[in-house]
Amino acid sequence: MLATLSTRLATDGGMTVGVIARTRDSLERMGSVSPGKVGRLIPMALDYHDLTRLRHWVAHFQLMEGPLDLVVAWIHEPVEPVLSAIISEVEAYRHMPWHLVEVVGSRGGVQPGSPVPRGTWCLSQRVVLGFMVESGFSRWLSHEEISQGVFEAIQSGQLQSMVGTLEPWDEHP
Ligand SMILES: NC(=O)c1ccc[n+]([C@@H]2O[C@H](COP(=O)([O-])OP(=O)(O)OC[C@H]3O[C@@H](n4cnc5c(N)ncnc54)[C@H](OP(=O)(O)O)[C@@H]3O)[C@@H](O)[C@H]2O)c1
Repeated sequence: MLATLSTRLATDGGMTVGVIARTRDSLERMGSVSPGKVGRLIPMALDYHDLTRLRHWVAHFQLMEGPLDLVVAWIHEPVEPVLSAIISEVEAYRHMPWHLVEVVGSRGGVQPGSPVPRGTWCLSQRVVLGFMVESGFSRWLSHEEISQGVFEAIQSGQLQSMVGTLEPWDEHP
């Protein structure tokens, strides 16, 4: 669902974007950076619940490409200890502010956000995915709406933002 966001950050933002999924199939579906653009996509097939591999990859990525400026994390439950592992590996290389954008599903809107340890350089944002109500009917967000909403949240820098709505909750799809 964040495939378009990944290619957009690379194409429009000129970023080097590391992308994780477990399977090569998912990574191959991601698309590519337009020719002539400076940004790059670097795919990596790993399970982020394998913390040893995850930590090695984040460390290796930063050794090759430099400290991470931005992490967009959509992590299936359990979010911890995955998020903490990412934060500590980034902090090991990064000694100036960086951004963590945590994307959470509809139920995340009523739960407290993941704690970011005090004393880190991490500036944390949270994007809650809701649903759409159109002409009296509700539906889940499309992949494009999710990618667009997260892109706008990154640009706005708002601590908490919402794509779609959570109200009225009784009408969720
Ligand atoms: N609010 C809304 O409108 C809305 C809309 C759609 C979905 N959702 C919710 O969003 C949640 C996520 O849906 P989804 O899974 O279908 O999202 P998805 O974006 O299609 O899949 C998640 C991505 O993460 C990868 N991934 C999953 N587990 C991983 C792991 N352990 N390690 C590394 N990569 C991993 C997947 O690739 P691999 O499978 O290759 O690992 C895939 O590329 C669901 O709960 C769904 O109900 C909400």
